[in-house]
This record gives sequence, structure tokens and C-alpha cells, in this order.
Amino acid sequence: MKKSTLLIASLFIVFMTEAACASEPEAVFKFYCAQCHGLGGEGDGPNVTADFATDPRNFTKTAEMEKLSDADIKNVILDGGPALSKSALMPPWSKTLTGQEVDGLVQVLRGFCKCKGAP
Ligand code: HEC
Repeated sequence: MKKSTLLIASLFIVFMTEAACASEPEAVFKFYCAQCHGLGGEGDGPNVTADFATDPRNFTKTAEMEKLSDADIKNVILDGGPALSKSALMPPWSKTLTGQEVDGLVQVLRGFCKCKGAP
């Protein structure tokens, strides 16, 4: 009896931990970024219309993404495009996302470009 309670309890913990992980960086990206940057990070989200003066960054372009350090990416996410003299169509997220979520997003973008940033 005791043993099975323990088993159920630990299964529950494993399940919850997995749910929490699954709702982390990829989910944050899908929720906040994909409408412009696209689910695959190619800059082709449904929000991007012909009147967009600047196309959202295509995160799968390794050569472009390599030029950005992790700190650059963080700054742009926190403070918006103008932080790196880019378009204000890239909104600032510092009031919306936690530092941990932003760190997670940097990793998601590095996954799209399969690259490391400039140091
Ligand atoms: C409303 C549309 C929109 C949303 C939503 C959006 N972006 Fe952007 N993003 C842009 C545009 C447009 C650019 C291109 C800016 C430029 O090149 O001048 C951009 C550029 C970027 C860049 C590259 C900056 C550079 O130096 O080239 C990064 C990194 C980025 N976005 C990350 C994100 C992340 C992470 C999210 C989600 C938290 C997000 N964006 C949400 C529109 C958006």
C-alpha cells in the first residue's frame, strides 16, 4: 500500500516535471515569437503581411545568426529591435518574459541556426 502510494507520487512528480519542461522554451517561442518568426523560425509567421517594412529575422540562416552573440540576442529580445539599431517591428519583451525565459529563447534560436554566436 505504502509502496504503491509512493510509486504514484513519484510518477506524478515525473509527469509534472515533464509538463513543466515541455511548456518551457519551445512553448514560449510558439506563444510569443512564432506569429512573426514562424514556427520553424524562418521569419514567415502568419502575422507578417505585405506592409511589414522589415521581414522578421530568419533564424535558420546560420551565417547571419553567427554574427549575433548570445548577449546581442538577449538585448534584442529584452529591449526590441532598436536595441541593436534594428526595426521597432521587433517588439521589446522585458516586461513580458522572465530572464530565464529569455535565456531559453536564446537556446531555441541557436537550435534553429545550429550555430554558436560570436563571443
Ligand atoms: C510583431 C512581430 C514580431 C514578434 C512577435 C517578434 N519579432 Fe523578433 N523580429 C521582428 C522583426 C520585424 C525583426 C527584424 C528587425 C530588423 O531586422 O530590423 C526581428 C528580429 C529579431 C531578432 C534579430 C535581431 C537582429 O539583430 O537581427 C531576434 C533575435 C528576434 N527578433 C527574436 C525574437 C523573439 C525571441 C521573439 C519572441 C519573444 C520575437 N522576436 C518576436 C518581428 C517580431
